[in-house]
Amino acid sequence: MNIENKAVLITGANRGIGRALVDEALRRGAKRVYAGTRGAPQYADRRVTPLTLDVTSASQIQRAAEEVDTLDVLVNNAGVAIYDDLSNPEVIDRHLAVNLIGSLKMTRAFLPLLKRSKGAIVNNLSLAALATLPMIPAYSISKAAALSMTQSLRAFLAGEGVTVHAVFLGPIDTDMNRGLDIPKASPESAAMGIFDGLARGEEDIFPDPVSRPLAEGWNTGMVKSLERQFAAFVPDQSR
Ligand SMILES: NC(=O)c1ccc[n+]([C@@H]2O[C@H](COP(=O)([O-])OP(=O)(O)OC[C@H]3O[C@@H](n4cnc5c(N)ncnc54)[C@H](OP(=O)(O)O)[C@@H]3O)[C@@H](O)[C@H]2O)c1
Repeated sequence: MNIENKAVLITGANRGIGRALVDEALRRGAKRVYAGTRGAPQYADRRVTPLTLDVTSASQIQRAAEEVDTLDVLVNNAGVAIYDDLSNPEVIDRHLAVNLIGSLKMTRAFLPLLKRSKGAIVNNLSLAALATLPMIPAYSISKAAALSMTQSLRAFLAGEGVTVHAVFLGPIDTDMNRGLDIPKASPESAAMGIFDGLARGEEDIFPDPVSRPLAEGWNTGMVKSLERQFAAFVPDQSR
């Protein structure tokens, strides 16, 4: 899907990749960008509508859904990453609440609009969804679970004309991995990679120099093949 003239909602839109996605959506001619944030950032462009949106707050999600009349693309971008060693279950809960359940609640709330527009859901995952990063295991668990959720939603919604995309981000230069001394792509280039992948209709998007070389192996691999076989068990509700 090309986002020119489309309405896009991005969570975690105040900084990092979310902020870059807002700017890139505007640059590509989006008609309206709903910027979901926990604070009250200012956006100069009049096409941006700020939404107060903590993705763990049912009431804020409901209020946001009431403020949006049409939506073509939901980008579940908000995320947390905390260093841990799996010794504290509360840290796992926190990751699941934001990175998994937050995305699911947002999807449920905006699904009626997305069904109407035959729109797209873009879930910003991570290469840590495919193989754990042992210094952030709770984060890795949440992203692996969010990948599984993405695959289920993709199968459920295929017959409704709503596409569901996983984004396997490699290291991007944001606050999230500020302490990690490795080569990182800019958030601006990651945002371009995400919208380019969406425009090409890729269900799994590998948007940066570290993730991109993995795309072919993933798309032709055993896991993808199994996903397709299992998805065939879902009855086609469009018939
Ligand atoms: N950076 C990377 O290397 C990397 C790699 C793989 C995947 N990703 C994924 O890309 C996405 C964006 O990451 P980033 O690097 O841009 O991170 P970031 O710079 O740390 O920004 C995180 C964003 O998520 C928001 N957020 C956190 N908890 C929230 C909540 N409960 N409700 C609503 N918003 C919340 C933050 O809002 P506040 O400002 O209010 O805290 C912030 O806008 C995340 O899903 C992340 O897992 C990033």
